[in-house]
Amino acid sequence: MAAPFFCPTLDKVTRGGYEQAMPHPDAPKMLAWGILATGRIARSFARGVSRSTHGYLAAVGSRSLENAERFAREFPGIRTHSSYEALLADPGVQAVYIATPHPQHVEWAVRAAAAGKHVLCEKPAGLNRDEMLRMAGAARASSVIFMEAFMYRCHPQTAQLIKMVRAGVLGEIRLIQSSFGFNAPFDPGSRLWSNAAAGGGILDVGCYPVSMARLLAGAMVGAPFLDPIEVTGAGQLHPETGVDLVAAATLRFPTGLVAQVAASLGIEQDNTLRVYGTRGMLRVPAPYQPACGVEPARFFLRTEGGEETITVVAPSTLYEFEADAFARAVAQGLHEVPAMTVADSLGNMATLDRWRAAIGLVYEQEKIGHPPA
Ligand SMILES: NC(=O)c1ccc[n+]([C@@H]2O[C@H](COP(=O)([O-])OP(=O)(O)OC[C@H]3O[C@@H](n4cnc5c(N)ncnc54)[C@H](OP(=O)(O)O)[C@@H]3O)[C@@H](O)[C@H]2O)c1
Repeated sequence: MAAPFFCPTLDKVTRGGYEQAMPHPDAPKMLAWGILATGRIARSFARGVSRSTHGYLAAVGSRSLENAERFAREFPGIRTHSSYEALLADPGVQAVYIATPHPQHVEWAVRAAAAGKHVLCEKPAGLNRDEMLRMAGAARASSVIFMEAFMYRCHPQTAQLIKMVRAGVLGEIRLIQSSFGFNAPFDPGSRLWSNAAAGGGILDVGCYPVSMARLLAGAMVGAPFLDPIEVTGAGQLHPETGVDLVAAATLRFPTGLVAQVAASLGIEQDNTLRVYGTRGMLRVPAPYQPACGVEPARFFLRTEGGEETITVVAPSTLYEFEADAFARAVAQGLHEVPAMTVADSLGNMATLDRWRAAIGLVYEQEKIGHPPA
């Protein structure tokens, strides 16, 4: 069973440059977060939690005490653990945020759920749908929440897109185009390019446009998401490590809607979203990392009447929205976070499986006879 809620309160103090939420006897319920791993995204998420209204940073776990202590110097007041096991055994942690490279997600998500912790697991949830199924089963067995950390799903810009599509502002949507690619220099030691770390663009960033296309395909028919009935693709694999450098896919949905998605490492793409309907089109310049804070998020609607700028005020930071959406779901006793459900993650992983199959990308660890990690 899930760890029970403490009833600490929010007493925000500024330390180390960040507002660190600390438990206080009179405050509303706050979710106690444990961060598992101390890399790049773990820090970004921890900054989000530090500003969160519904949660606070309780502890960090790393494969080394040195890393955990370095992390805690940035986020003072949190407990440090020199192993992931110790973090999971910490009774003061209610939710674990898993920020390891992709291949380690499944092991630690399953173990976190078995330890009674709610799980927010970085994207992609796993290497494939089978791994996602194992995580879903573990979460169900322990009655804890599992969410794949698609932070853009918790940003108000995404809610506005869904609302407009559902309201029929674009008429019938026939075509979606979206890309996510960035110029990372080749480095065989980096998780992005490594076969052992399940590198490549499809899993690292292609998961975003696939999830967006499925989300909007669903919105058009009043469903939380829709899965494609056909996935075709092409791509180029790195000659040394065999991970995908560049890949594109065409998804065909049961409504007839077609989505073209692309992902890349080593070349930057425009990383926009375009949604074309019978009555108009949307152009969203930052669909996956929308603006937050003082500057509102902006996107554009073109109809017969001309082009209109839609602005969305987003007063929190990206990871703060995510941490708060997760904590609210826990506080409300929900089984899932509505912004990204388990069924949605299963469908996303299945689509990524089909995209990878279309370009012949199988990771070494997925091959038959490969010793388990
Ligand atoms: N949602 C987003 O905006 C976003 C952005 C970037 C990345 N991500 C996702 O977050 C995950 C981590 O990405 P990252 O860029 O933060 O990676 P990173 O900087 O390389 O950090 C990964 C951390 O995982 C731990 N780890 C455990 N096993 C490891 C292993 N075998 N090799 C290397 N590190 C290992 C390490 O922490 P310890 O040494 O402390 O154990 C390491 O610092 C990926 O799945 C990625 O897709 C999400």
